[in-house]
Formats: sequence, C-alpha cells, structure tokens
Amino acid sequence: MTPGVRPLIAGNWKMHGLAADGLALARAVATGGAAIRAELVVCPPATLVSAVAAAMAGGPVAVGGQDCHAAAKGAHTGDIAASMLADAGARFVILGHSERRAAYRETDPTVRSKAEAAIAAGLTPIVCVGEPEDDRLLGRAEEVVAAQIAGSLPPGFGAAGGVVAYEPIWAIGTGRTPTEGDIAAMHAMIRARLVAAFPGQGEGLRILYGGSVKPGNAAAILALPHVDGALVGGASLVAEDFLAIARAAG
Ligand code: 13P
Repeated sequence: MTPGVRPLIAGNWKMHGLAADGLALARAVATGGAAIRAELVVCPPATLVSAVAAAMAGGPVAVGGQDCHAAAKGAHTGDIAASMLADAGARFVILGHSERRAAYRETDPTVRSKAEAAIAAGLTPIVCVGEPEDDRLLGRAEEVVAAQIAGSLPPGFGAAGGVVAYEPIWAIGTGRTPTEGDIAAMHAMIRARLVAAFPGQGEGLRILYGGSVKPGNAAAILALPHVDGALVGGASLVAEDFLAIARAAG
C-alpha cells in the first residue's frame, strides 16, 4: 500500500451476468460496501453498465466498463465509445486486459489510444499490463511490463489519475500467484516508471495487482509496498468474497 493513497478494489465480471443475477450481485456489493474504506468499482458486461449504474447511484460503489473504442464515434459495428460508457453511468474503464490483447490482438499503441479516448470522455482508465509465463521463467518479466507501461499510457494519464493493473497472464484464473517478493519488485518498478513519466503525479497513482486474488491471499498481497488495490476476476462474482478482499485493503 502506498501511504496516503486510498486503495481501489475493482471487480472485473468479464462475460458473466444476466440482468437478474448481475443486479443482485451489484446490490449485495453496494450494501456491504458502505462500511469499507477502499474505493470500490464493479465492471459488468456492457449490457449491464446502465442498469447496474442506476441501481448503484448515490452509493459507495462505482461502475466501470471492460473496454472502449479509441474513436469518439463512427462506423465501428459492435464497438462502444468511451462517451457511451460515461453516458451509461460508468466512471472507470478497464483497457488492455490480457484477454483482449490476446483475443483481439490489441497492441500497446491501441491501448494507449483507448486510454486517451477514455480520459477525453471523463473516465478513469485502468490499464492492464502483465507478462506471459515464458517471460517470467526467462527472467524477462520486468522488461516486458516496462515496455507495456512505456507504450500503453498516454501523456494525460497522470493528470487523469489513471490506474495501472499488473496482471501476470499466467496468474489469471489459475489459482497461482507470483511470490510476494516478485509482486513487490514488479510494483516498485512500475512506480519508478510512473514517477519518471508523470513527475509530481506518478507517486500517487494507484497500481493494482490482479491474478487469482482471493479472500485468503488478499491481505498479504495488499500489504506489499506499491500495491494500492486489486483487480479481481472470479472472486468478484461472489459478493462476500469481493467484499472480503476489499476489507483486506484496510
Ligand atoms: P482472476 O481473479 O479470476 O484470476 O482474474 C483476474 C483478472 O483477469 C481480472 O481482470
């Protein structure tokens, strides 16, 4: 945790949730979230952003999208502009998740353009970075993530209070996590890059850890220096688990 920084616990629901169960989950998170110090955000599928935002309005939990297009509008069938997410009630948007980098070949420049569009629409981008297992085994994890940081964050990222999520790809949905030492080293490297890129702002930007965060390991991970919150996948689909992780942020 970085002193003086309010932790952020974000739930990435991925492609899970129909209206009935999604709204029930959101309401349960909102009810339990009132007593929690960390800032909370849930990122439902795009079809539920508006309904979840309406159900959460005025409460302690913000809503985010899981992706947006880089363009403000236009002929992009199936895509969603950042302004549309904002209009639907979102305040955050996850960008450059490894699942999108892999499935849609999103590159660092794509992610950077999307983050620019998100900031222009008044959204806070949560930009995901993280290495494949091969690079971790070859000792190249920090090099790979440093390149993603250099390529994915637009100039306005610091002023916009942008969020970085470090999600080692091999830790997502596997029940495996890096050692505490490896997480701490990666977050320290990311902090140094943010401070260098955004002088006067990088010190306070939040760096989340993501990848198999559960109630049982959250406290230890969130206690590490420069871990300012978590991006939670599977455990965010169970309100009690998500809230337990949020409580572990102190
Ligand atoms: P899991 O928490 O299910 O490992 O997913 C992490 C993730 O990808 C969040 O964006």
